[in-house]
Amino acid sequence: MDGKVKRIGVLTSGGDAPGMNAAVRAVVRTAMSRNVECVGIRRGWNGLINSDFLLMNASSVSHTIDRGGTVLYTARSEEFMHPEGRDRALATCKLLGLDGIVAIGGDGTFRGALALARQAEEQGVNLRVVGVPATIDNDIGCSHYTIGFDTACNTAIECIDKLRDTMQSHERCSVVEVMGRRAGYLALYVGISVGATAVLIPEREVDFERDVVDKIRQARLAGSTHYMVVVAEGAGSAIEIGKRIHEEVGIDPRVTVLGHIQRGGSPTARDRETASRMGYEAVIALLDMDGNRIIGTRDGHMLAMDMEEALAMTKQFQMDRYQVLEALSTTGR
Ligand code: F6P
Repeated sequence: MDGKVKRIGVLTSGGDAPGMNAAVRAVVRTAMSRNVECVGIRRGWNGLINSDFLLMNASSVSHTIDRGGTVLYTARSEEFMHPEGRDRALATCKLLGLDGIVAIGGDGTFRGALALARQAEEQGVNLRVVGVPATIDNDIGCSHYTIGFDTACNTAIECIDKLRDTMQSHERCSVVEVMGRRAGYLALYVGISVGATAVLIPEREVDFERDVVDKIRQARLAGSTHYMVVVAEGAGSAIEIGKRIHEEVGIDPRVTVLGHIQRGGSPTARDRETASRMGYEAVIALLDMDGNRIIGTRDGHMLAMDMEEALAMTKQFQMDRYQVLEALSTTGR
């Protein structure tokens, strides 16, 4: 990059995730520590299009590390998906004198960031982008971990533990839908952690007889009188699965869709610590490295990967964890 980085922007985009504030805080404070100014862009990419920003300093992010949601607000921008929208965003970058942007969000956020950086290059504008992965789905190909996943798991586990109390008392079957439109990480980790009878995930084609009916039957034969079925939203509707259980097993399940409660709450230690490190590494990458980058974790280490290469990566789903779940769910309780 030509010249010294003097001013950077930071934004959160896409679905929010607990720990986004910790990442914003880390970006702002790291920038300050390197004498770089930091501009907070509000409402995701829409903020760049609409010149919706605030100048941030160390105290703007005080007492935010423990807060869920995002103090910068977030949005999914339709306009930014088109070159005309990105032109308006670039005009704001030029006006504010931004040399780089840290975009905190998911896959769509990063694809938008790369498109912006390419458009900037075509127009001879000096602008680099760094992505920080934050989504409760943990579905970013280039990173083993994404900010918010641990908090969402813990929230879902707390809810299901409570459900189990009443299911146990009434000797009922519970069908719980957790988030994850395209990924079953949340369902799988939560399923293992609550000792679910069955878990349905989008990565594995559902065979209702094998994956639900047989699991409930085996649990009953082993002495269980209550059953917990966890469904990732991408694997099917919990309501429909509840109806099918009623038809095929003859029991009357209660269905709970956990929904957006999983996206809120104070971030766990893991999310605060990871977000702090990722935010720090994002600024260091903008200042000390070339090209557009995504910060990712690999076996606990932080990497600043080339953005284009990182976006082409796919994550191998952890089927070994599914085997753990299968082994533990067949013994009954
Ligand atoms: O952030 C990812 C995610 O939580 C998905 O699991 C879910 O399908 C989606 O967001 C829902 O997002 P929204 O209701 O904000 O459009």
